[in-house]
Amino acid sequence: MSRKLVGVVGAGNVGATVAQSIVNTDLCDVRVFDVVEGLPEGKSLDLREARNADYLDCSCFGTNNLKDLNGSEIIVITAGFPRQPGMTREDLLNKNADIIRNVVTTVKTFNPQPIIIMVTNPLDVMTYLALKISGFPKNRVIGMAGVLDSSRMAHFVAEKLNTSVKDVRAMVLGSHGDSMVAIPRFTTVSGIPITNLLGKEDVDWICQKTRDAGAEIVAYLKKGSAFYAPGSSVSVMVHSILKDEKRILPCSVFLNGEYKLNDVVIGVPVKLGSNGIEKIVEVALNNDELSALHKSAEIIKNNIKDLRL
Ligand code: NAI
Ligand code: 2OP
Repeated sequence: MSRKLVGVVGAGNVGATVAQSIVNTDLCDVRVFDVVEGLPEGKSLDLREARNADYLDCSCFGTNNLKDLNGSEIIVITAGFPRQPGMTREDLLNKNADIIRNVVTTVKTFNPQPIIIMVTNPLDVMTYLALKISGFPKNRVIGMAGVLDSSRMAHFVAEKLNTSVKDVRAMVLGSHGDSMVAIPRFTTVSGIPITNLLGKEDVDWICQKTRDAGAEIVAYLKKGSAFYAPGSSVSVMVHSILKDEKRILPCSVFLNGEYKLNDVVIGVPVKLGSNGIEKIVEVALNNDELSALHKSAEIIKNNIKDLRL
């Protein structure tokens, strides 16, 4: 049987969890590449051997040859170093930029136009780099962060209200960094904005917890960063693309005048379907929200300058 294929670059914590999240929904096959010998093969074999217990047909294969990802409709890039305690996402910039340059240059040689979902940090800057190095259309290079940050915000909302997390829809825009922009006005529980359900102090607590969520996990793990919620968040995006669900999700994308921003990759709501980003959704932000988004964009732009493109 011929199934759709998703390629995952990097078989570390996030890459392996992305593979598991996708295969566990029986959506498509997955092929995982890593430079470490045995790592992608071993983790993929483990996932294949779980299929009988999990009652699944879709499969996962590992390889040390990036070109084996040929045929992938989507390539998820997780290759790189994770954050260590005390390290900002931006500290990772130079280390990870070299990896992304190599990976994207090679992907281009065997796949003329996949959809790339970038995960490697610093996320917005690495997505910008992948877009520029690949020359792929801007609707096909997408950063994953907003889905994760919004899922985290939804968790804190449910915790504060002691309510089911299923009913919460959160919206977090801006950079995947300390300047991320949580939007309480557009964060709802069964359609009710949280600003109608909670006082300012609680809303501020939720926004701060969301901004600090990645660092909180790094502080616990000490030797790496989060991977379960990031894996599930990538899987949500892969589903929306492969099944043409056209979900409206916050993703990091290249802006060309939208939100009065130019030449920057930053998190905004988009419609995600079989053509990748099918629409950038411009919601009416108030002055404070727009100004926070612009401040976040300035920080990303300064980091982009360090790429020496
Ligand atoms: P990890 O250290 O567990 O795995 C990284 C993997 O990349 C390693 O297996 C390593 O061998 C591999 N690798 C290094 N160079 C490579 C290359 N040239 N080609 C293929 N593979 C290569 O790290 P983890 O936890 O999986 O995180 C990966 C990246 O994702 C980090 O940059 C991290 O900061 C980022 N991240 C981003 C999130 C987001 O929301 N955008 C969320 C979580 C992590
Ligand atoms: C996170 O937010 C480190 O970006 C990663 O967990």
